[in-house]
Amino acid sequence: MSQAIAKKRLDYQAPNYLINEVDLVIELDPTDTIITSTLKCETSPHAISSNAGVASEQDLILDGEDLKLISVFLNGSAFTNYRIEEGKLVIPQAELAQLTDFTLQIKNSVDPINNGSLEGLYLSNEAYCTQCEAEGFRKITYFLDRPDVLSVYTVTIIAEKAAFPHVLSNGNLVEERDLADGKKLVKWHDPFKKPCYLFALVAGNFDKLSDSFTTMSGRQIQLELFVDKGKASQGHHALASLKKAMKWDEDVFGLEYDLDIYMVVAVDFFNMGAMENKGLNVFNSKFVLADSNTATDDDFFNIESIIGHEYFHNWTGNRVTCRDWFQLSLKEGLTVFRDQQFSADMFSYLATRISQVKVMREHQFAEDAGPMSHPIRPDEVIEMNNFYTVTVYDKGAEVIRMLHTLLTADGFRRGMDLYFERHDGQAVTCDDFVNAMQDANEVNLDHFKLWYSQSGTPRVKVESGLESGSKELNFTQRTNPTADQADKRALYLPIKVECLERSGRKIDLNLNNDTFVLDKANASVTVPSEDFVPVLLSDFSAPVILDYPYSLEDYLLIMTFSSSDYSKWDASQALYSSLISELYHNESVELSTSVWGKLEAALRQACNNYELLNEMLTIPSVESLTQGFEFSEPLKLSAARSAFLVQMQENLQDFLLEIMANTAQKSYEYTKVQVNERRVLSAVLQLLSYSKTPEMAAQLEKRFNSADNMTDKLTMLKASQICSVELFEKLMLSFESEYLENAVVMDKWFALHATTKSNDILSKLTLLASHRQFNLRNPNKVRSLVGSFAFYNTDGFHAIDGSGYQFLTDYLLELDPINPQIAARLVTPLIQYKKFAKSHQEMMVMQLKRLLNRANLSKDLYEKVSKSLT
Ligand code: ARG
Ligand code: ZN
Repeated sequence: MSQAIAKKRLDYQAPNYLINEVDLVIELDPTDTIITSTLKCETSPHAISSNAGVASEQDLILDGEDLKLISVFLNGSAFTNYRIEEGKLVIPQAELAQLTDFTLQIKNSVDPINNGSLEGLYLSNEAYCTQCEAEGFRKITYFLDRPDVLSVYTVTIIAEKAAFPHVLSNGNLVEERDLADGKKLVKWHDPFKKPCYLFALVAGNFDKLSDSFTTMSGRQIQLELFVDKGKASQGHHALASLKKAMKWDEDVFGLEYDLDIYMVVAVDFFNMGAMENKGLNVFNSKFVLADSNTATDDDFFNIESIIGHEYFHNWTGNRVTCRDWFQLSLKEGLTVFRDQQFSADMFSYLATRISQVKVMREHQFAEDAGPMSHPIRPDEVIEMNNFYTVTVYDKGAEVIRMLHTLLTADGFRRGMDLYFERHDGQAVTCDDFVNAMQDANEVNLDHFKLWYSQSGTPRVKVESGLESGSKELNFTQRTNPTADQADKRALYLPIKVECLERSGRKIDLNLNNDTFVLDKANASVTVPSEDFVPVLLSDFSAPVILDYPYSLEDYLLIMTFSSSDYSKWDASQALYSSLISELYHNESVELSTSVWGKLEAALRQACNNYELLNEMLTIPSVESLTQGFEFSEPLKLSAARSAFLVQMQENLQDFLLEIMANTAQKSYEYTKVQVNERRVLSAVLQLLSYSKTPEMAAQLEKRFNSADNMTDKLTMLKASQICSVELFEKLMLSFESEYLENAVVMDKWFALHATTKSNDILSKLTLLASHRQFNLRNPNKVRSLVGSFAFYNTDGFHAIDGSGYQFLTDYLLELDPINPQIAARLVTPLIQYKKFAKSHQEMMVMQLKRLLNRANLSKDLYEKVSKSLT
């Protein structure tokens, strides 16, 4: 692996050259697109003052990857004194020595149709599109491909007129005219300086939806949404979401949109969710297209949240961007936090918060416990694409949330205002952000900053001790060493605490905002009571694992009396986990009937709050249960979880049937009330399906056939997957024939098949991979089929003979040369082998070694696989 060299955060150096203006002329062609790039460059003041290094350090080194160079001109004259080194174009310093300003013109070509990496310029179905973050611009032309080089772009695109009615780039349209040979020329200009990762180009034949938004200062912004032909009616929710996001950012942060036009394009081939290119967002079509027939309630929710996310980047990411990629959380952690607040305001706090906490506990804690552990601001990176992680994004958002908690909403807003006042138009660091928060609030955040540099999940152990008559809660924090860092320090942790007497009465603890700040290894709180139950870490006030010796009675008390719905849910999950763990250690145990009666009583209290009831009726996933064990036996754990569900169903049947009877089918609307009703019904039907009775199967079939929306259809499919194989197969066939032509919907179908418990799951998967809607080059398909299998089919993936591991590995070997980014995402369940029992570990390691031995393994896979094997 000659190219697999780690870059280090502390090696950062400012650029030696600046590129102030970029003029691109792009002549589109599927195999031979020609790019002429004219760069107005300047020797950076930094380069002149720091003359310490050797001369070659001052060479102008332009990144490039998979490019064919055609010609170079310097200040108008043909120039041949360049070198190509490892794909990069090097202009020797000697050639630039006398110049402070110069113009470089570079002509090169690229091959979009054969670009399976979906990075740089590629074709999605018939449309051209680009993806440049993090380092994809270098796959379009030679450039200083780093986020601290900011330029004004003018982009001219030449395309066939008939095939490409819509030809788009960032900023404002300045010219459009016909050329000879059925071609046309379209020119865009973006007045805002930006890093090249925010460049975008799209050309295709779309349906267009238009709307407008009037900003708080009265400017009219044109909004345009581009979707595949015939799908315009599925774009309304996305467009409405965009307007809500624009309004919300004005109301909450005083941030107004800056250009006169905002465009969003949906494409089917996309490596991630969406991309915030200036004025021209590109979206994975599954996060745009929605109507009640094709999208679930969750899809509607996710679309609003991701549309919001990309819109919010216009300020947190675009107007103020990252100095270098180690600072990624500067824009991502902050923007995720902003989209989370937006979702909570638009939909509801509880369900939104719970889904975020599940991501942290199921995925981020696992990442931190595995070979890819890194701080939210990483120190070392081989392939940047590997660091678009749950740590940088979601833990990053948790860190911002703690600031918000500590400074309050007003203080946080003051910090944001100062951040923009200081840094608008700049490329800055995470420290710059925290300093703005600190200075605006006159607090010292030095200790808090440790959250940016320390990886790992802190464990907070809480014990109650009797101290001279009064009781105390003693807190101890400890972060175990992680793969990347041996030594850990005590962090600054805000912990929400409530104490309940056995009667359920709340005890006053005299804490500011009910929050106890643990800022050293140990500290304690005095509780004026002899016998109480502490409710700890409400709202997940810090991203930590909490450890307190609760009894089942304690959990039930919290579920009944806590003042926080979040904590009621949290206690229910802990209760289920401990019962499942009992079954895990002793398969044949019949849980005591008294538990069920008390559980039912606690659940009944939530019957007037369907949002909460649904959450309390949802049992922790195998993935989240796995985190609670040292060397888990995945098959045993999955069996224990199923056994628990069977017993729960038997013991709560009357209660569940009662809820089922109380929820009537209504004609579909995406409203909070209806969503919560459908969710409760879904939870109840899935639980009841563990009875596996013909009556239940008949009930599901009837409901499937009369469903008027995708949410209910999917509920019935999931329930039938539990209830009856025959019914499941039957309904899946009918679903397939109804939605065969809809790529986004068929992803759900592939995912359901891939998560089925079945002895011949691998031959099923192989058959599905030859389905006409399947395509190895399409990330959505790969994620639905192979990703769902590896991440969520415990019984199949962890099959006792290792065949699941082998299946994934075979697949990755095939995918890696085409799309390394996706291959590296899918390897995650394999590299986290250390949390499983020895026999599984050995088989997983064997497959990882197969990967590592492959010649020409991508940097992406190499980084993850090699780390996992050390
Ligand atoms: N900035 C984009 C977003 O969060 C995601 C870009 C992901 N890039 C990547 N190489 N995985 O909205
Ligand atoms: Zn983002």
